This record gives sequence, C-alpha cells and structure tokens, in this order.
Amino acid sequence: MMTAMVRPVSRVLRLGCVLAFCFQVLVPCGLPGAWGLDNGLAMTPTMGWLHWERFMCNVNCQEEPDSCISEKLFQQIAEIMASDGWKDVGYEYICIDDCWMAPERDSEGRLQADPKRFPGGIHHLADYVHSKGLKLGIYADVGNKTCAGFPGSFGYYDIDAQTFADWGVDLLKFDGCYCDSIQHLAEGYKQMSLALNRTGRSIVYSCEWPLYMRPIFKPNYTEIREYCNHWRNFPDIYDSWESIRNTLDWTSSNQEIIVPVAGPGGWNDPDMLVIGNFGLSRDQQITQMALWAIMAAPLLMSNDLRSISPEAKALLQDKDVIAINQDHLGKQGYQLRKEDNFEIWERPLLNLAWAVAIVNLKEIGGPRSYTITLTSLGRGLACNPNCLITELLPEKRKLGFYEWTSSLKTQINPTGTVLLRLERTSSAQFSYSVVSDSL
Ligand code: GLA
Repeated sequence: MMTAMVRPVSRVLRLGCVLAFCFQVLVPCGLPGAWGLDNGLAMTPTMGWLHWERFMCNVNCQEEPDSCISEKLFQQIAEIMASDGWKDVGYEYICIDDCWMAPERDSEGRLQADPKRFPGGIHHLADYVHSKGLKLGIYADVGNKTCAGFPGSFGYYDIDAQTFADWGVDLLKFDGCYCDSIQHLAEGYKQMSLALNRTGRSIVYSCEWPLYMRPIFKPNYTEIREYCNHWRNFPDIYDSWESIRNTLDWTSSNQEIIVPVAGPGGWNDPDMLVIGNFGLSRDQQITQMALWAIMAAPLLMSNDLRSISPEAKALLQDKDVIAINQDHLGKQGYQLRKEDNFEIWERPLLNLAWAVAIVNLKEIGGPRSYTITLTSLGRGLACNPNCLITELLPEKRKLGFYEWTSSLKTQINPTGTVLLRLERTSSAQFSYSVVSDSL
C-alpha cells in the first residue's frame, strides 16, 4: 500500500500548503528548534501490536465483522494482550493504522472516527485500552490524505495533535502519502513533532519520513532523530520470506548510516513482526524474531492474537529474546559478515555481553553447519578471556563455557537462525565452572 509521495493535489490545497510553509519559515518560533524531540519516550524500542499487515483497510464490517477495522477488533486485542501474557512480557501499545477515520472532518475541523465502526469514538476506546493497563496508538498522515485516502493532517497539525492528546492517545504513526513536495514533507514531520510536544501529553512519535524522502533526497538521520521516536526506512513488510530478506538486505547495506543513529529515544523501524500469520515457516519466524532483536527494532506485531498458534505465541513472548531487543545499552546490532550463504550479525549488550545471530540463507538442502571462531566476535572482546554461551533460538540451552581461542559449531536449518548470548566471564569464574561442571 506504499504509494508514491508526490500526488497531484488541487490548486487550493497546494496554495494552502505553500502558505502554511511560508508562514512557518517567516515565524521564527515555527522553525525547528535545537531542542529537537525530547519527550523521554521509547527509551527502549516500542513494543505492541499494529493492525496494518494483518487487517489492512478492511472496512466491510457487515460481511467480515471479526476482521474489519472497528473498535471491537481493538477491544478484543486489548483484552487478550492484557490477559494472555503479552502485557507481562512488555507488549504495551495497541495501535490503530489507516482506515479508522470518517471520510470528512467534523464541523470544527477535527478528525473523527468512522461512526459506524467506532460507535464509542476513540476517546472511549483509549479509556478501555488504558483500563487494561495498555496504551493506544493512532495513525494519521503528513499530507493531504492518508495512503488509503482518508483525511490528511496537512494544515491541521496542531488541531490533530491536540485532538489525539484530548482523546488520550499515546502513540502516533505519521505516514507520508499525498504530500506535494519534499520541503512540505520534512516541515510537516517536524511541525507535527512540535505540535505533539506542545500538547504536554506523552505521545510516542513514529515517522515514515526517511522512507518518503529517500527517492528524492538523502535523509538526514541526525535531524530525523531529533524529531521522531522511530522511523521507517524501507517499504512495507509483507507476510513472506522475500519481504523479510529484502528488509534485512536493505538494513545491512545501509548499516553504516543507520546503525549509529539508533539509541534510546530514537530507533530504526524495519516494520511489523508478521510472526503468527501465513507466509513464514517456523524457521523464518525464528529469523524474524532473532533479527528484530539484533536490530533493536520496535516490536509491533501484526497478527491475530485471538487465534495465534502456541508456537508463535511462545516465540513472540520469549523473554530472553525480548531482553536482547530491549537491552538498556541501547545499541543497534549489525551484520558482521556474510559468507557461503551464511550471515553473521552481532549486537553489543549491557555488561559487555553480546548477542550473535547466524542465519542460513540457503533455501535448498537440510541443516548446514557453521563454525564461528570466538575471537572474531564482539571486536575480539565478546569472549575474552572466556565466556558463557547460551543458545536462545531455536532451542534454549546453555552451551557452556568457552575460551577466547576456541570455536563453536552450530547447525542451522534453511532460512533459519541460531541466536546466541555470550556473557564474558573472568578466568576465576571460568576455572571454577569447569571444575564444578566436571564434578
Ligand atoms: C503506508 C504505510 C503502511 C500503512 C499504510 C496504510 O503504506 O507504509 O505501514 O500504514 O500506508 O495505508
């Protein structure tokens, strides 16, 4: 559903856009400030659920009452998130994507929810979500229309930010369709960030600014980080291995630019987790979970929690993998090397620990083995002088203590991943453990 950024707009709208832009340039307080985004949110990657990949723009509640975009869907998902262990492991934001709006603004220019599908309105839904100890996210667009053609926020940034704050919204996903110039796109993303801050409500700001900017200009990530809590770089994720692969390939090819800018308060967003749907094998789901942890990605699931399989649920609720994703050192991991159809990724963690993922990209044959020399990990320090290695995925098991100069042999299924955690140990700890293990 990603659509081209430049869309024809009516002359009146375009004039409105230009006037608003000039006004912002002329009025100094409308200029981006050096303060940037300082909202204290997303200190670790946001976790929650977002409707888009699984439910898209289904507005046909008559024929498909259980899967259309309606308050019932979000209430049911909220209930399950609170009662089935999702909230306990950290999934907190339940997020509405496109297609929640009525086709027109109200008489005072405010966005309104579709009255048939959201009879109680968004404020009521936010209250419900909050009563479950969760937070509510909503969707809007920087341009004249949302990608699915509902009212855009252009010219209404302050009104919309205030409306969302009044309703008790906790996160805004701000899309980039139907904006008529790159200047308006950049200004719009900044203006909405400032407008959200002015409401005084804590609202996580999720942007797609670099994605829409890239075809025309190289995104300035230092600036984007000043205004957004996370940002999409790459087109929409689909429920397929090809889509996961493309996202990983784009990320590793651009890692020198995007990895250094990620950190507490601002994260690269490789889009939703599609685990628990139809298109990924068990091994591919493991790869997505492991790599989203390595990439310090927001963990926004898009699936049907009402009917998810126990295996997918256990994978998504795996506390050790989530701990890697949420690690407080706040550094995004990167691809260390690629050889013989294997990719090795690593991520530094708190207390000098490291996460390492080895992906077997070969889509033919059976499990293949890969042997890692431990000196090659963590810039030579991950296992120096010794380390305890735990396999987190696909199985959970302590592999034991290893010396710096040793190596580790792994076996990985086609398109699967082995995710490891390495904890450095002192020599004393190491010899004690070796002795006690042998007792
Ligand atoms: C764009 C975004 C998607 C989704 C749709 C909604 O394609 O990238 O994530 O929000 O719009 O229309």
